[in-house]
Amino acid sequence: MSDPFDLAAHIRTIADYPKPGIEFRDITTLLADAEAFRQSVDRLVAPLAGADVVKVAGIEARGFILGGAMAHQLGAGFVPIRKAGKLPHATVRVAYSLEYGLDEMEMHRDSIEPGERVLLTDDLIATGGTAEAAVTLLRQLGAEIVAACFVIDLPDLGGRQRLEALGVEVRTLVS
Ligand code: PRP
Ligand code: ADE
Repeated sequence: MSDPFDLAAHIRTIADYPKPGIEFRDITTLLADAEAFRQSVDRLVAPLAGADVVKVAGIEARGFILGGAMAHQLGAGFVPIRKAGKLPHATVRVAYSLEYGLDEMEMHRDSIEPGERVLLTDDLIATGGTAEAAVTLLRQLGAEIVAACFVIDLPDLGGRQRLEALGVEVRTLVS
């Protein structure tokens, strides 16, 4: 059956941002549309009903917006995965590379209890470097990663395969 609601049509593409040659997929237009935002969150959480997700871990920055809404829907807590230097308490930290640069991210050491069932989320997976770093942090804290979900997959960059090779189930809405 064809999908009557076209999520992809709500995603804006900005050429040469933040660097020449990058086609930046901008979800602010999707988030600003009530139906597109609601459909995105509903479609991401629908397969997880009954999956006993205890926490949603959202990657800064757009993973916070989606992850907060998803946590509310699932009756789960929310924990932030932040760029280095932003979290006030004791952290674990990991370095990672992006489609367009290098960065470091952190989580609070006490944000996950060993064995907790955690859903990882972000707006987009490209090379998978960011998500792989998040998986490293979550596993360091003893999380059981239920799945990783994203609104957008850029399939040519191989992020999905990179996460699946780590044993993480990946769900995406738009390629
Ligand atoms: C974007 C996106 C993901 C990441 C994906 O964030 O929101 O977090 O890139 O790329 P990857 O799969 O190649 O690692 P960005 O690094 O632009 O940071 P921002 O959320 O602070 O804008
Ligand atoms: N992160 C990495 N590549 C990206 C892209 N093309 N658009 C938006 N976010 C990204």
